[in-house]
Amino acid sequence: MSAESRFGVTGLAVMGANIARNVAHHGIPVAVHNRTTATTERFMEEHGSEGPFTGTHSVDEFVAALERPRTILLMVKAGPPVDAVLDELAGHLDEGDVLLDGGNSHFRDTQRRSEQIESRGLRFVGTGISGGEEGALKGPSIMPGGGTEGYGAVEEVLTSIAAEVDGTPCCVHVGPDGAGHYVKMVHNGIEYADIQLIAEAYDLLRVGAGLEVPEIASVFEGWNGGDLESFLIEITATVLARTDERTGGPLVDVILDQAEQKGTGRWTAQDALELGVPLTAITEAVFARSLSALRDERVRASSELAGPRPGEARVGRDLVDDIQRALYASKVVAYAQGFQQMAAASEVEGWNLDLGAMATIWRGGCIIRARFLDRIREAYDADPHTPNLLLVDYFRDAVADAQDSWRRVVAHAVELGIAVPAFASALAYYDGYRRERGPASLIQAQRDLFGAHTYRRVDREGVFHTLWGEDGAEVEAP
Ligand code: 6PG
Repeated sequence: MSAESRFGVTGLAVMGANIARNVAHHGIPVAVHNRTTATTERFMEEHGSEGPFTGTHSVDEFVAALERPRTILLMVKAGPPVDAVLDELAGHLDEGDVLLDGGNSHFRDTQRRSEQIESRGLRFVGTGISGGEEGALKGPSIMPGGGTEGYGAVEEVLTSIAAEVDGTPCCVHVGPDGAGHYVKMVHNGIEYADIQLIAEAYDLLRVGAGLEVPEIASVFEGWNGGDLESFLIEITATVLARTDERTGGPLVDVILDQAEQKGTGRWTAQDALELGVPLTAITEAVFARSLSALRDERVRASSELAGPRPGEARVGRDLVDDIQRALYASKVVAYAQGFQQMAAASEVEGWNLDLGAMATIWRGGCIIRARFLDRIREAYDADPHTPNLLLVDYFRDAVADAQDSWRRVVAHAVELGIAVPAFASALAYYDGYRRERGPASLIQAQRDLFGAHTYRRVDREGVFHTLWGEDGAEVEAP
């Protein structure tokens, strides 16, 4: 076989297959490979005529089909399969060849793999890819990490297959080793928060405002014409407008209310805990999925645990408008927290992340693509070191305008007994963040009393301890 393919894709499940097709649709010769050769054959039967593909049936054949330096994208399930495939491929490659992992790998695994692969003279590009099946085919958002030489070898292919917004490809070199997968992880965390906030808005519109599902579909469609415009709001309108063929009712009513998760949201929350970043909205979204999963317990609790006495549902445009504003403000908080987390990780890992560039490449192709990201990009253009998006004029004013609605919605939800963990925790974060002086002084005093953990004072330098059990005198801690 002559080495005529510029790019290789191994792993032809739906994401891998669609990425390979996307590459070929751009006229780039691509070699495809799958562990099960029947999958490669089926792929070639179905798509072989779409562009310059070479179907290969063994790793030897696959590697031989590629121009040097070889560039190979792995689209295999995150976890041990990635290590197995990397190991097998690495044994067939030559110095300078580039391996890309396009799955949702944990960034620590990517850091470990970068070291292992690079110690073998190869290059490794851990790459976040977002956009689901359609994005993979028509233009995803791509978040490559790793060394600059490795990225340089694949930049042209990646930027040509990525989505484009205003002529700018949604692909940028994110940073060293695990940076690309880290940013993709936070993207997914934000996706969890966004989805949870939308679900809470839907619940409020239905149970709180008493709207019917098709009416709610229209509300979301309307919202998609304003500041909330985004892929997730758009698909919410589509989902809610869908009727179930069997029952003739809304499809959403026959879907089991147990949210599943593959782990990237949980990783984001875990990492926020490690970093000490208050990532409340994303974390609540993860917990809300876990609570939804406890269906049997919820069914039992629904008849055993007391809630508020049924009241009149408040129907009216004012509540609908309030929910819209509350959703927007909560979303600002969720994004502000996600961006703070990336800033903190960048500092700790020495990645030097360009947060404005992250907002830029999320404007198209990915699941959280939204009009809103233009505002975030502008904020970082104006001040790359802005400590919190809530402090940027545009978002500060937007949240100030929305806050009365936000408070009414959360209060109303609490009165009605409708759980709104993401709305409420976002509001609590906002209120906590804007407090010059909070109650943590009491926490410090308690810690000092029961464990001599010491405290600092507002009026003097140094570290102090009160002799609580003795004469109550304050001593300076050594
Ligand atoms: C994307 C998505 C994708 C993710 C799914 C499902 O950016 O294309 O984030 O990577 O796997 O959205 O994630 P959960 O199963 O965890 O909800």
